[in-house]
Amino acid sequence: REGVNEELDELRKIIFNTKDFIEKIQERERLKTGIQSLKVGYNKVMGFYIEVSKPNLHLVPKEYERKQTLVNAERFTTPELKEIEHKFSYSEERIKTLEKEIFLEFLKELTKYYSTLRKISELIADVDVFSNLALVATENNYSRPQITDTDEFIVKEGRHPIVEKYLPKGEFVPNDTYMDNKENRIIILTGPNMAGKSTYLRQNALIAIMAHMGSYVPAKECKIGIIDKIFTRIGASDFLALGQSTFLVEMIEVSNILRNATPKSLIVMDEVGRGTSTYDGLSIAWAIIDYIANNPQKFGKTLFATHYHELTQLGDDEKRGIKNYTMAIKEYKDEVIFLKKVVKGTINKSYGIFVAQIAGIPDEIIKRSKEILEELEKAEKYIKEKVEIDVPRNIVSKNVFQPTLFVPEIPKEVEHIINEIRSLDLDNLKPIEALQILSEIKQKISNIKF
Ligand SMILES: Nc1ncnc2c1ncn2[C@@H]1O[C@H](COP(=O)(O)OP(=O)(O)OP(=O)(O)O)[C@@H](O)[C@H]1O
Ligand SMILES: [Mg+2]
Repeated sequence: REGVNEELDELRKIIFNTKDFIEKIQERERLKTGIQSLKVGYNKVMGFYIEVSKPNLHLVPKEYERKQTLVNAERFTTPELKEIEHKFSYSEERIKTLEKEIFLEFLKELTKYYSTLRKISELIADVDVFSNLALVATENNYSRPQITDTDEFIVKEGRHPIVEKYLPKGEFVPNDTYMDNKENRIIILTGPNMAGKSTYLRQNALIAIMAHMGSYVPAKECKIGIIDKIFTRIGASDFLALGQSTFLVEMIEVSNILRNATPKSLIVMDEVGRGTSTYDGLSIAWAIIDYIANNPQKFGKTLFATHYHELTQLGDDEKRGIKNYTMAIKEYKDEVIFLKKVVKGTINKSYGIFVAQIAGIPDEIIKRSKEILEELEKAEKYIKEKVEIDVPRNIVSKNVFQPTLFVPEIPKEVEHIINEIRSLDLDNLKPIEALQILSEIKQKISNIKF
């Protein structure tokens, strides 16, 4: 700014006027020498120079001093130019020094008021944050959450504050949430792709955070007990450069959650296990829920979204605090409508192919994938009918920590036959008797269904 320091103003004027001055010299020299193409220029390395093209070199006056030779021209200097250059570079240097000095002086002055200024800026920041929160709250119809000393987390008509902004007004479907540290401690949310699972999980986490930071929340009503930490395992943020795979990162995060969560924490897990093969992923997801469910003294409210329908076999479990919810779907003729509504219960269809179709995957692929799906489903049905042992049911019905988890029970008839064989006294058995017994066993076995 002008007027702060006289010397600085002067120096700046010199720099500013140099351009004019140079133009004047150029005009004058052109007239004097008769070289119309004569140019006075400047660059950082050479400073000021007079440039004359090769054909005009014979017109150059004696007092021009050669400075540099180019392909098509020569550059010269004169005592006058040297002086200007000196002034110019001196001014530039001096400006830098002066500006630095003035700035330091200013800082020194400022430190006298440091604590007051700090307080003022903190106040302004607070006012800024709260006034903006208030503005957002009124503009978007948020409500004041009630912080309670219970362990409940109740949301009526909750919304995702960002997703709702991207949708046309009124299109976001609000959803309720009811959680506590008893029968409603763990919510398993199943539903096909695109149904709105992740959105629901995140909106609840956001509402919890907003309520705790003193903001209004995107919901009609919200009651929430104090939460100590929110743990999330969402999306794929991998560190490939650090040599960690997506799945490894996922597991590291889950491990961190399981080690550090408390009954007062809110855990949000979205599609845990998706990063690996179906059965590995399913088993891990299942075991994680079991672990959280079996340890209410360690873990509090948990939202778990998954596309593994098998997990719904865990069922609503009052004792362990598990509740099953799903995203409502409506099938109409060939169409599938995602209602984006969270409802009690479970679902066992995927609609993945439908989503692929919406995305514009070529018809040929869609048609072929439908055929493959049909075949796979037929095969699965066939196997289920043939094999009576339903492993998942077996897992659910048993205490999960029994080591004999996957060993199928031996049917009574088989056990009977085994005992019969065990009791045979082979030393005193005649070959004909042995044959007789073998024939009987064969007969019995043929009646047993495996
Ligand atoms: N409550 C809602 N109301 C309106 N639109 C919604 C709602 N929830 C989600 N959507 C829309 O549906 C899209 C898909 O939602 P989201 O990603 O939550 O589905 P998802 O079930 O997690 O799918 P995926 O299984 O593929 O992860 C979102 O981009 C959003 O635009
Ligand atoms: Mg999702």
